[in-house]
Amino acid sequence: MLRFPGSEPRTPDDIVVGPLDLAARVDEALAVQAHAFGLSDEEIEVRRHIVLRHIAVPGARALGATTPENRLVGFVYGMPNDRVHWWSTVVQPYLRREHNDGWLDDSFVITELHVRPGYQNRGVGRGLITTITDTAREPQSILSAIDTDSPARGLYRSLGYTDLARKVLFPSAPMPYAVMGAPLPLRGPRQVEA
Ligand SMILES: CC(C)(COP(=O)(O)OP(=O)(O)OC[C@H]1O[C@@H](n2cnc3c(N)ncnc32)[C@H](O)[C@@H]1OP(=O)(O)O)[C@@H](O)C(=O)NCCC(=O)NCCS
Repeated sequence: MLRFPGSEPRTPDDIVVGPLDLAARVDEALAVQAHAFGLSDEEIEVRRHIVLRHIAVPGARALGATTPENRLVGFVYGMPNDRVHWWSTVVQPYLRREHNDGWLDDSFVITELHVRPGYQNRGVGRGLITTITDTAREPQSILSAIDTDSPARGLYRSLGYTDLARKVLFPSAPMPYAVMGAPLPLRGPRQVEA
């Protein structure tokens, strides 16, 4: 089961979603991402610098999903979009081509969302993304995901995200991405039990 701050634990193995000090726990978060998404040691080193830079951006926030032993099994982080951020400059021409580049204004960007494989399909990912977007000031949310039929794409669609652009190429990534956007609050249950 998944519980949220303020609710009572219901089983000893509850997973709790709550604020994450991502700068302090960056190595644990990258270990989760490495297991969930696949990262080489070299990529982990590169990501560490990027994550630490991101989390210092004004308005950047992170949530973690932890076991009662405080083991991190999932995390999400994001920030208000800024058109000068690297991600935004890469996706902007693709969104403009689809007449969707207005989504880059007043949007909360989901930068990373990962759940350790042994804890997937229990509502943890859904809990992380809905909880972080529920406290966003922006009226909409955008993100990018590998442009394929993945659990991530299925989850985002079920929350109301639709495709804003497809076959988006990031200089650093071999696979094309889809950019997706959803109005906030996200649709669907705010709490999911597994
Ligand atoms: C994407 C990810 C974070 C989802 O986390 P999760 O905790 O497993 O997801 P949840 O259990 O909260 O949500 C499950 C939902 O995902 C979707 N989903 C799960 N498995 C799926 C599959 N095999 N095919 C299609 N959709 C699937 C469904 O919409 C499902 O909703 P449902 O429970 O109503 O059926 C997790 O799969 C993950 O870490 N994947 C690898 C890393 C990754 O791709 N991160 C996203 C980068 S953009």
